[in-house]
Amino acid sequence: MARYSKQDFPLDNVRRHLEPGPIVLVSSAWKSETNIMTMGWHMMLGFTPARFACYIWDANHSFEMLRRSRECVINVPEVALLETVIGIGNCSGRDGDKFARFGLRADPAEKVKAPLIRECYANFECRLADSKLIRSEGVFIWEVVKAHVARSPKAPKTVHYRGDGEFMVAGSTVKRRALFKPQNL
Ligand SMILES: Cc1cc2nc3c(=O)[nH]c(=O)nc-3n(C[C@H](O)[C@H](O)[C@H](O)COP(=O)(O)O)c2cc1C
Repeated sequence: MARYSKQDFPLDNVRRHLEPGPIVLVSSAWKSETNIMTMGWHMMLGFTPARFACYIWDANHSFEMLRRSRECVINVPEVALLETVIGIGNCSGRDGDKFARFGLRADPAEKVKAPLIRECYANFECRLADSKLIRSEGVFIWEVVKAHVARSPKAPKTVHYRGDGEFMVAGSTVKRRALFKPQNL
């Protein structure tokens, strides 16, 4: 398992890690319990503040933990963790502690009670920014309030879900900066 040395990461650059739509692990804490769920349905909503939206099914144990605590951590794994990521998405925190079950380590966050997952290369601490769409659509709108990202690798091998048990792994980087209007970079 990769060991990451993480450092503070600028909030206005969080999109560099979340805009490509990687599968993430959402960690939460409510009362004396912590939990983790796997999530693919999410999107960036703004640079500054760094806003981020996601869909969470209300049958998930995480749903009420997130709604009540109004906090979470978005943890980004690499492909080496894929079996664990699927396992976490195929069981419920109602049936036991997923940190213990999957051998993951919970590090304390700085600004929220939800834990950072040490085995992920990036961790984004979030507070609920807008609750209007939770009940009607299952959509939580978060503000990232603290970001921790590993110094290396520079090009993490994130995984991207295509449905039906198929994933893509992040591949080569193609740069076309000269073609962009500055405001679209
Ligand atoms: C690859 C993958 C992607 C998933 N994406 C989402 C998602 O975007 N939203 C969601 O609510 N559940 C998603 N799930 C399902 C939850 O992770 C799953 O229901 C989990 O068991 C919830 O755990 P909990 O009951 O402990 O909260 C996904 C599962 C997998 C395996």
